[in-house]
Amino acid sequence: MASEEITKVKSDSTVAPAAGMNVYEAIYRRRSAWKYKDNPIPRETMERMLETAVWAPNHRLTEPWRFFVIEKDTKAREAVAELAYQHQMGRFDNPQRAESTRQAVMAPPVIIYVYSTPGQSDEATKENYASTICATYNVSLTGAAEGLTVTWETGGATRHPKLKETLGAEEEWDLAALLYVGEPDEDIVTQRTPAQNFVKWLD
Ligand SMILES: Cc1cc2nc3c(=O)[nH]c(=O)nc-3n(C[C@H](O)[C@H](O)[C@H](O)COP(=O)(O)O)c2cc1C
Repeated sequence: MASEEITKVKSDSTVAPAAGMNVYEAIYRRRSAWKYKDNPIPRETMERMLETAVWAPNHRLTEPWRFFVIEKDTKAREAVAELAYQHQMGRFDNPQRAESTRQAVMAPPVIIYVYSTPGQSDEATKENYASTICATYNVSLTGAAEGLTVTWETGGATRHPKLKETLGAEEEWDLAALLYVGEPDEDIVTQRTPAQNFVKWLD
C-alpha cells in the first residue's frame, strides 16, 4: 500500500477499457464458481479490475477499502492457506476438512483479502463498510466483463486471529471479503426471486 505523496485521479480523466459486456450483461453473467482453470491472470487484468474498485461511491470520500492481492505459488499464499487449515482444525478437529479449506485457498489463480477501515463513529464505520462492499462488487462485475469469476468467501478461511498480522492489515480493520479470482471451470446456474417481490411503489 503506497504511503508516499499520492496524486488523485479526476473522474473526467478516467478511460474505460473496451469490454464486450455492458453493465447489465456483467450483472446478469457474473457468477460465483469454486473450480478454476489453471490459467494465470495477467497482472494488468487484475489492475484494471482493482482500478474500478476505488470509483465506488463513498461518503465524505473516506476511501475505506484496503486490498491484499496474492497470486498463486507464492509464500504469502502458503502462509494464509496454512492459517485457514489451522483455523478449521481448531474448529472441527478434522484433518480432511481442514485440508480441503487449505486447498480452496491454494487453488485460485489470484485471491484478494478486502478490508474496510473504521470511521469516527459507528455510523461512519457502517458507511465505510457499505462503500467497501460496493468497491468489491465493482471488482466482481469487471471480473465478469473479463471472463473471470470473483467468488466471495467469508467462512473459515478468513477467521484466523493471525490473518491480519500475516497480511499486514491493521487490527481495527474489518474483513469484508476474501475473493477467489480465476477463469471458472464449471458452469453454475443459480436463481433469484424477481424484484417485484421486494419492491413496493408508493403513490
Ligand atoms: C457477503 C458474501 C459472503 C459470501 N460468503 C460465502 C462463503 O463463505 N462461502 C461460499 O461458498 N460462498 C459465499 N458467498 C457466495 C454466495 O454463496 C454466492 O454469491 C451465491 O451462491 C449466489 O451465487 P452467485 O454469486 O453466482 O449469484 C458469499 C457471497 C457474499 C456476497
